[in-house]
Amino acid sequence: DKGGHKHFMAKEIAEQPTVIAEAIGHYLSKSGEIRLPDPQIDFANVDRITMVACGTAFLACLTAKYWFEQIARLPVEVDVASEFRYREPPIPARSVALFVSQSGETADTLAALRYCEGKADKIMSVINVPESSIARESDLALPIHAGVEIGVASTKAFTCQLTVLFLLALKAAADRGEITEEARQDHLAQLRRLPALMAEALDQSDAIAMTARKLSNARDVLFLGRGPLYPLAHEGALKLKEISYIHAEAYASGELKHGPIALIDENVPVVVMAPRDALFDKTVSNMQEVMARKGKVILISDREGLSEAGEGVWDTIEMPDVSDAVAPILYAIPAQLLAYHTAVAKGTDVDQPRNLAKSVTVE
Ligand code: F6R
Repeated sequence: DKGGHKHFMAKEIAEQPTVIAEAIGHYLSKSGEIRLPDPQIDFANVDRITMVACGTAFLACLTAKYWFEQIARLPVEVDVASEFRYREPPIPARSVALFVSQSGETADTLAALRYCEGKADKIMSVINVPESSIARESDLALPIHAGVEIGVASTKAFTCQLTVLFLLALKAAADRGEITEEARQDHLAQLRRLPALMAEALDQSDAIAMTARKLSNARDVLFLGRGPLYPLAHEGALKLKEISYIHAEAYASGELKHGPIALIDENVPVVVMAPRDALFDKTVSNMQEVMARKGKVILISDREGLSEAGEGVWDTIEMPDVSDAVAPILYAIPAQLLAYHTAVAKGTDVDQPRNLAKSVTVE
């Protein structure tokens, strides 16, 4: 049942305020206590997290690396499962191995988990299907409570993965004595606002559909972001490729001048994800380098960001104000909607893109 939407993907995008609130409610008490299922884990005894996943789940891990490192001061290694499993990486003492998977059945991710058995101190997973193989073979499995996801392109599972990983990073920060109670409560307050902010972001859907109509004529699209928005640039590019079949690539904004800027001309739209965070000015200066070469910029930012930097851009998408840490969860919505509406404009099969399967149980 598509609940009145044209596609499951549209329904699942629209569900995000509800399922995110649900996920938060499962792990966070009213007083701000983060509660995990047993066995309890104390991150004061952990020196490293190794995160492994595929596809969109891998991009959730890349985003979470910023949180674990910046907020909890805990070193994180992230790899795609297909590389990790054959690289035979050494797993140092006092390591947690953390696997992220919507289905919990992805063959490479499961093989990577089995590789870590007996090597990592603890095997953890963040999954959507509690009965799945990855959940069953973990010491500690954290469900994301996204509900069934039917669209092949992952949407609500991604933002629910991020939400659970953000809470986990805050718990790690507290366990390790790296955060004051005031700062912790501040992050939690920002997280609790997220469902309402997401609903506001969803209100931009019609405006984003107009932008997407222009984007649907492109052959190649670049996505740029910095800091925690860099993995999200990859997610925007992945979503667009998957369902609209437009070639899209993501780069860290600062990498632009090390090669990809050679691609820029008046035919290449460049989506810039730039909330007014600590790195905003740097991202904007990269964006201006694109515009100086006639690149067509689609700037995604908040009202102030757009009024400060939006002059001369090809198009804009306005997001509500959000804290730096939580921004990637909110900015997932315009990334998803841009891909969705572009695919609809092109008339592709949104829920069943060619050559793709929802659950990849063979390597
Ligand atoms: C992208 C997408 C895939 C999955 C990947 C991992 O939209 O859905 O990239 O994220 O196949 O799947 P899970 O999370 O089930 O392990």
